[in-house]
Amino acid sequence: MKHTLVTLFSVMLLTLTSRSLAQEPLPVYLDDSQPVEARIEDALSRMTLKEKIAIIHAQSKFSAPGCPRLGIPELWLSDGPHGVRMEFVWDDWNHADWTNDSCTAYPALTCLAATFNPDLAFRYGNAIGQEARYRKKDIILGPGVNIYRTPLSGRNFEYMGEDPYLSSRMVVPYVKGMQQNGVAACLKHFALNNQEKNRDNINVEVSDRALREIYLPAFKAGVQEGGVWAIMGSYNKFRGQYCSHNEILINQILKKEWGFDGVMLTDWGSAHDTDEAARNGLDLEMGSWTNGLTWGVSSAYDNYYLAQPFLKKIESGELPESLLDEKVRRVLRLCFRTNMNRNRPYGCKLTPEHTEIARRVAEEGIVLLKNENHFFPIAPGRYQKIAVIGENAVKRLSEGGGSSELKPQKEISPLEGMIEKYGREHIVFTLGYASGAPNYSNELPSGLDADSLVREAVKVAREADVVLFFGGLNKNFQQDCEGDDRRNMDLPFGQNELIERIIEANPNTGIILISGNAVSMPWLSQVDGLIQSWYLGSQGGPATANVISGEVNPSGKLPFTIPVKLEDNSAHYFGEESYPGVNGTQYYKDDILVGYRWHDTRNIKPQFPFGYGLSYTTFRYGKAHTDKKNYTADESVKLTFTLKNSGAKAGAETVQVYMSQKKPSVLRPVKELKAFKKVYLQPGEEQVVELEIPVQSFAFYDEGLGDWKLENDKYTLHVASSSRKIHSTATIEVNN
Ligand code: BGC
Repeated sequence: MKHTLVTLFSVMLLTLTSRSLAQEPLPVYLDDSQPVEARIEDALSRMTLKEKIAIIHAQSKFSAPGCPRLGIPELWLSDGPHGVRMEFVWDDWNHADWTNDSCTAYPALTCLAATFNPDLAFRYGNAIGQEARYRKKDIILGPGVNIYRTPLSGRNFEYMGEDPYLSSRMVVPYVKGMQQNGVAACLKHFALNNQEKNRDNINVEVSDRALREIYLPAFKAGVQEGGVWAIMGSYNKFRGQYCSHNEILINQILKKEWGFDGVMLTDWGSAHDTDEAARNGLDLEMGSWTNGLTWGVSSAYDNYYLAQPFLKKIESGELPESLLDEKVRRVLRLCFRTNMNRNRPYGCKLTPEHTEIARRVAEEGIVLLKNENHFFPIAPGRYQKIAVIGENAVKRLSEGGGSSELKPQKEISPLEGMIEKYGREHIVFTLGYASGAPNYSNELPSGLDADSLVREAVKVAREADVVLFFGGLNKNFQQDCEGDDRRNMDLPFGQNELIERIIEANPNTGIILISGNAVSMPWLSQVDGLIQSWYLGSQGGPATANVISGEVNPSGKLPFTIPVKLEDNSAHYFGEESYPGVNGTQYYKDDILVGYRWHDTRNIKPQFPFGYGLSYTTFRYGKAHTDKKNYTADESVKLTFTLKNSGAKAGAETVQVYMSQKKPSVLRPVKELKAFKKVYLQPGEEQVVELEIPVQSFAFYDEGLGDWKLENDKYTLHVASSSRKIHSTATIEVNN
């Protein structure tokens, strides 16, 4: 079907080209030299009412039809956000089982965020854009920029952590990198989809201030700085109205205030009402699976809220056609940016460069959390017998988890990486625990006997010189998986008990946690070495082994706080009304105090703070200086300090700058991240680090004013290596 249309498109272009040779004017919409807006208006004026209706909703699970008569190609969409997903059958959720739809699996977005490296985010976005283009996709359904509010949320691994500034800085280059391929990025899920539990209906009540300061900045940056071409609405409601056709979020904020000129599309099945969808800014309806009421009717695309029901309302005069025209304009604009852009590059996939980016992001994102008595690095030759224990050393973690599942051409496991690094003769492996295969909506048993696995693990541990336990979460139901949340913060599948037994058998044990979420760590004081790793994709094995062996010096920093226990997290502190909600509604009582903002302000010591991560070298921070003492609102503070690699290994440090306001007229968090920079230093090397911080970024959102407000006051800038480790401060004054 698609290829027929592409051919049709080429034939039309040829016909039109020869027509133009014969002096007949090329239709404006096909003339590349015309301004895009003129081409949009021209195409729109040629479309029939039915063609206009057709172009704004799905024709299959992952495509919309374009306008074949005018040679406007189908739009093809794919998940996202860590690679290009495998193909699906036209009208159901079965994999199509093609043999040419494998991809490079890039590390999950939590890992990308943990790199604190916007240049890598650009390369990451570009790489997926290239693979998407090669696979003939026009829209990639990602990146996800919902804020990490609770460690239970099933999709935190698809997002960029708890801090709005960090996710903003990382999302912009991702979008730009991807879109330079003529492939649209699609920010998701707009907005407030901060938990998976009850996501289809939960109504979120949150203050304007928390909305603006915490939950929207990454979307805003993606729109205004990244120039993103598409945004996906979320399943949940905000202030009583579904987010995919929400007057406040879409009409008022996204389109009017931020000037978004791209396509607002549904999550799969997140539209619920034709009138609201028509009036409240929804442009493209996908995945409704509806015949108006029920679930599961096949090829029901005509019954979509924006299909026949919308057409009927226009024909009867109940809704004006101008509402439809505005949506069509946006879809056409997206086409001119993507599949009608004849100059976009062709793309490529599975190149050595893609492999290199996947590995680099993994290596830079792995976080060293604890390293006593030089537990790490473990250089080859240090031990004769290394026991690798735990299912996550071998489980294929690109599978499962919901829509972000991938079919990587290659996924090198940590065990394979370790064998490659240390030699088969030095590695002994045993599972230790087992989970079943990933499944979207229920937990499948593993079929293996848990007690025998533990017994074997204890034996293997006892006989080894060192034990590396690879555990954590996985992409199974109610783990890191779409559609529901974890039940609690504990490690699943009996891992805590297993770890205790292993430590008893061999105290020389280090832990490598692979997850997209914080877990509780009752055994922490008993281990010397702890690494937080992520779903690392194709190159997880080599990246992990490189960090463990010391070939790569770890430089990742936590993009979220790890609390000691669940109740220490702000969403949970306020009980069920705050999470997961009661009677269909939840109140974000934690308001602006999310993540480290909460821990710092309420003085609740985390297990590991936001921004934390160790290195195999050490860094010495010099004193912070600002270029002046007094600033006006439109200026930037130039902050400088020296940073020295005071250890014996080359390494990178992410320096962070947090701001506190002296005497705010409203409650402000004790600290807010305002700048960061990753600095690479050779042993003994010293650099002057310079950061420019716009004074305007010190403002808070004033609900009375309905706008940002910057108060005349003193502000302290903390130069830090995590949200809790401050090395130097400088105080400045703002006077307007
Ligand atoms: C997810 C989206 C995804 C879509 C298409 C939905 O269930 O929430 O993130 O892009 O499916 O697979």
